[in-house]
This record gives sequence, C-alpha cells and structure tokens, in this order.
Amino acid sequence: MSPRASLVALALAAASCGDTERLAPLAERGALLAADARVTRSQYNGFSCLTCHAVSPAAQGQRALPGATLQGAARRPSFWGGEVTNLREAVERCWTGFMRGVPADLDGPDGQAIGAWLDALAPEGSTEGAAAVTTTWTRVVRDPGEGGDRARAQAVWGRACATCHGALETGAGRLGPLVSVLPRDTITEHCDDDIAAVGYTDRQAYIRAIATEKTRHGSFLGYAGVMPPFSTEALSDDEMRDLAALFRCP
Ligand code: HEC
Ligand code: HEC
Repeated sequence: MSPRASLVALALAAASCGDTERLAPLAERGALLAADARVTRSQYNGFSCLTCHAVSPAAQGQRALPGATLQGAARRPSFWGGEVTNLREAVERCWTGFMRGVPADLDGPDGQAIGAWLDALAPEGSTEGAAAVTTTWTRVVRDPGEGGDRARAQAVWGRACATCHGALETGAGRLGPLVSVLPRDTITEHCDDDIAAVGYTDRQAYIRAIATEKTRHGSFLGYAGVMPPFSTEALSDDEMRDLAALFRCP
C-alpha cells in the first residue's frame, strides 16, 4: 500500500468506527453555543437556548420555563405540541422567531454543533425524555378574573418571568433594554386604551386580559416581539391569574 492509500484507509476507518468519539468535541461546542446569546449573530438578540430551555428536569428545578426540557428531544416524534414533526423545524422556530437568527445559519457549522449537542443529549439506547411533550396553547384569552393573589404572584414572577424581565417595578437585572419593565410598561401603554371599542367596561379586567394575552401568546397569534408563549403546562391558569393581579390601572 502506498503511504497515501494507507492514509485514506486510516481516515475512512476513523470515520466509520470513531463516530461517537468524533461527535464529542462537536457536541461540546454545541453545548457552549446553546448557552450563548451571540450564536444567532443578531445584535438585538439577548436570549440563548438555555434562557428558555433546561437540559433536564433536574436542571430545570423549580423554574417555569416556556420551552420543554431538551434531553431526549432529538428522539421525540413531534414538537411544539404536535404542530411540528421535524427537529430542525422545531429549532428554527426558536432561532428565527425568538433569537432573530437567519435559517441558513442553522445549516452552517454552529447549527451543526447545536444539532450534535441535541443528539448527544439523546444517546443511543436511552429513552429518557424521548416521548412527545404535551403542550397546550390557549387560543382565546380572557381576563382570568379578580381572584389573583399579588403575594403569590411574586413567587411565580421569580420562577417564570424574572430571568428576562428582571425585578418587578424596576426591571433591575433584565436581559436587555428591549425587555419591558413590568408592570409599568403595560400600564403606560394600555391603561388609556379605548376599552369600550374592544368590548370592555372594566379597565382592570382589560389590563389583566392584556397581560394574560401577551404571556399566553408571546410573539404569536398576531403579536409582535420576541417573547415566548407560555403553555398551560409551563404556567397554570392559577399562576396566570396571580400574575395578572400585578397589572392594575391607576
Ligand atoms: C425565547 C425562548 C426560547 C429560546 C431562546 C429557544 N427556544 Fe426552543 N422553544 C421555545 C418554546 C416556547 C417552544 C415550544 C414549546 C415546546 O414545545 O417546548 C420551543 C420548542 C423547542 C423545541 C421542541 C421541543 C418539544 O419537545 O416540543 C426544541 C427542540 C427547541 N425549542 C430547541 C431550541 C434550541 C436548540 C434553541 C437555541 C438555538 C432554542 N430552542 C431557543 C422557546 C425558546
Ligand atoms: C425569554 C424572555 C422572556 C420571558 C421568560 C418573559 N418575557 Fe415578557 N417579554 C419579553 C420581551 C423581550 C418583551 C418585549 C416585547 C417583545 O419583544 O415581545 C416582553 C414583553 C412582555 C409584556 C408586554 C409589555 C408591554 O409593553 O405591554 C408582558 C405583559 C410580559 N412580557 C409579561 C411576561 C410575564 C408575565 C412573564 C412570566 C410569565 C414573561 N413576560 C416572561 C421577554 C420575556
């Protein structure tokens, strides 16, 4: 065998039997990218994958995150509550809709590294996290009513909203200047709305409905922005009612 032929043979052998070993550094790079908001190359993006997703239930802890845990996700039969059956498309929704990325970058080296990382979180033979995740989206949002508890809402806020919005009232620690300071911004923007024109007579009911609609729909169903929607599994209707009580018109 010529030296060149043996080199080729070596390379081929490495490619066929060393697959898992070759994957490791790529997956490792993917893990770093998953925690990095710069990955989509948008100056307006402040989110990383791990802003909205935990790797495992243990890593999630008591946090209420809008995205499902990612361990096993690469093996799931469907995503986004059954709306999507293709993993790349599931990720692309996040990449373009929340992180302001361009789809082509998902096919480049960074996208491939993230794909390798997702694969490595669903290793051969393991079924952990591989079942489709039940996700229920509230289509029509109403005022959740007056029964919310503002003290309980503080705790829900800490588990679900503070990562992005920072502290209530001041916004201290929020993810960036494009993230609203709450409840202030919603009150400033909506308490003077013509509520009769949209069928409301009670201003407090109206502002609760606005807060609930944004939380349940995020940037979907006609809403602008990059906030993710919270399903009823991620945030219960009781928790939503408590949060809505934080929003009161003067
Ligand atoms: C701003 C929040 C947010 C960011 C950032 C985000 N996601 Fe998501 N992601 C969601 C939401 C909301 C869903 C839909 C709920 C669900 O099915 O998990 C989702 C769904 C998914 C799903 C489908 C999970 C399933 O079982 O349905 C995958 C996979 C996924 N995201 C991966 C990623 C990756 C990889 C990144 C980073 C490149 C990322 N996401 C960034 C919020 C986010
Ligand atoms: C992943 C980051 C993220 C999380 C988590 C998040 N938000 Fe947001 N939210 C945003 C961003 C960014 C905006 C600014 C508008 C936009 O881009 O969608 C926003 C805007 C809003 C608004 C509209 C403010 C206005 O101008 O009227 C409301 C209401 C709101 N969020 C409520 C919540 C609540 C309640 C929670 C917790 C259940 C929450 N958000 C969790 C990112 C987030």
